[in-house]
Amino acid sequence: MYKIAVIPGDGTGPEVIREGLKVLEAVSQKYKFKYETKIFDFGGERYLKTGKTLEDKDIEELKKYSAIYLGAIGHLKVKPGILETGLLLKLRFSLDQYINLRPIKLYNADFCPLKDKKPEDVDFVVVRENSEGLYKGMGEFKDKGTRDEIAIQISYNTRKGVERCIRYAFDYCRKRNIKKKLTLCGKTNVLTFAWDLWERTFNEIAKEYPDITTDYAHVDATTMWFVKNPEWFDVIVTDNMFGDIITDLGAMIQGGMGIAAGGNINPQGVSMFEPIGGSAPKYTGKNVINPLAAICALGMLLENLGEVKAGEAVEEAVIKVVNKELKSLAAGKMGYSTTEVGDLVVKSL
Ligand code: IPM
Ligand code: MN
Repeated sequence: MYKIAVIPGDGTGPEVIREGLKVLEAVSQKYKFKYETKIFDFGGERYLKTGKTLEDKDIEELKKYSAIYLGAIGHLKVKPGILETGLLLKLRFSLDQYINLRPIKLYNADFCPLKDKKPEDVDFVVVRENSEGLYKGMGEFKDKGTRDEIAIQISYNTRKGVERCIRYAFDYCRKRNIKKKLTLCGKTNVLTFAWDLWERTFNEIAKEYPDITTDYAHVDATTMWFVKNPEWFDVIVTDNMFGDIITDLGAMIQGGMGIAAGGNINPQGVSMFEPIGGSAPKYTGKNVINPLAAICALGMLLENLGEVKAGEAVEEAVIKVVNKELKSLAAGKMGYSTTEVGDLVVKSL
């Protein structure tokens, strides 16, 4: 019996999670596994009412679950930064979800903004370090508010943190078994402390994986190649900040935020799966948002639980719907409502 903690969250989060849960119910019947869900109301509305984002006792409660299914975090009436750090990053950090796994996979060439690129050309995975770097929140102001003000933001990288991420990426690349190529995406030519550590660690660990081809690309060049030659990539490993940036670009070349999913993974603990697009206030409550990213996140969640067949079936159902039904992956342009797209996935299952 899997125990799944569900955090629908803000904006369009509840609408897409509703469709994901519909698919979960259908796939559980087909693959005969049992689960129970509990809904948690963490998010902007609760914060506005109670002043609370996420407390230590909430974290302890969440540790009892098999996985977390998250909709979106971000509320127009809450100052930027509060929910991001107090809720989303707090979940990632305190559950030590040190990997952010973001597959970039094009399901239908018609939805790719790149000219002449086919599904086989856009099929790679970004392994983003998810617990350190610039996201650590280290730094300070000096002489705040004066003309001499200095703001310092530190990228914090530990050997252990870098090593566990790189090791995960090598293992993942081996298990994926496609091109068996791992690219380190960094900035060794300018950020000479952090990327020196990353590069040394990468090269050392590479010796343990003689079957994996390694490569290095600066982050700026990586963005260029995402557009020019996405077919060069298989698995990319990078730090938290670069991973954040390149996966938004990745989402666009796979067809947009409507389809982009990710997993915040603690290989030894509780992992959390989410559509990466955010709360989309503009589309909230209109039943027009694309639920496929959330449904793909559910597929990743199932694979993580060990329900590999069920996870793959969800992905295949999504591929069918994307190829046979939808006019576009963009909110409001799919040719169907949010609810109808969820129904189409269930039917295709
Ligand atoms: C993401 C988001 C978050 C991040 C924000 C909302 C804190 O952009 O999941 O990529 O920067 O990691
Ligand atoms: Mn982001």
